[in-house]
Amino acid sequence: MKERTTNKRLVSLSGAILLALGMSAAYAEDANGALNRIAAERVAVGTCATCHGPRGHSYSPKFPVLAGQHAKYLVAQLQAFKAQTRGDPDALGYMWGMAAPLSDELMASLADYYSRQIPIAGPTGAAALVTRGKDIYQNGDSAAAIPPCAACHGALAAGTDDYPRLAGQHVQYLIKQLRSFQNNMRNVAVMHGVAQGLQLGDMEAVATYLQSLGP
Ligand code: HEC
Ligand code: HEC
Repeated sequence: MKERTTNKRLVSLSGAILLALGMSAAYAEDANGALNRIAAERVAVGTCATCHGPRGHSYSPKFPVLAGQHAKYLVAQLQAFKAQTRGDPDALGYMWGMAAPLSDELMASLADYYSRQIPIAGPTGAAALVTRGKDIYQNGDSAAAIPPCAACHGALAAGTDDYPRLAGQHVQYLIKQLRSFQNNMRNVAVMHGVAQGLQLGDMEAVATYLQSLGP
């Protein structure tokens, strides 16, 4: 009888210890998450904002807008800069050095930070360009073997976890990326195929349409 009580006490005691351990593990995870978020915001505000603007709303068309971009895509790009596989001269000149010291945790937290910022529409361009660009974006151009961009990037270019958001991005940056895909400086098979048949005028039209789109 006495032994049974002791056993019961032991069981409830170990339960209490397990509960306490479980709680502290959850607390440690929360605290770690909060520290990562704080570290990411500090780097975003203190370093990345110099070029990418406050909360990823960049003013200069040389620097891509990051606000509202999908986290998975952002991490993949940061990893590609760090591995030096995204090899356009601007990627090399600006981003290889920036990405080199970033840990996987910091990349994930920075990507999370930018993906949570609300995107905005950029300026609209000439109506004729927007109309032509929208047609290419939505329908492609079968004569030139250009598939509809909307098939992957979404009807309103908001992107998905697997395809980047393009809405509201700077015209100049978009054109430059399309040219880099075309000449394989940014070596991505799927976009190389897409961009192959695009003339410079088509790129300008589709980019002008995309810049004008909001969230
Ligand atoms: C000195 C300017 C500069 C700073 C500072 C900078 N970047 Fe960049 N970033 C660029 C340029 C230029 C590009 C475009 C590269 C290209 O054309 O391929 C770019 C591209 C990117 C891209 C790719 C976006 C896309 O749509 O594919 C990501 C992600 C990025 N930067 C994240 C960051 C983060 C995070 C930081 C801070 C740790 C940072 N950048 C700091 C200049 C900068
Ligand atoms: C079959 C799917 C697919 C189609 C169709 C497609 N894209 Fe893409 N696009 C992608 C993928 C995947 C990426 C990301 C590439 C990477 O990982 O670097 C991408 C990236 C891009 C980027 C770079 C974005 C950035 O922030 O740097 C631009 C610009 C772009 N696409 C424009 C277009 C345009 C314009 C069209 C139509 C003419 C188009 N895409 C059609 C799959 C597609």
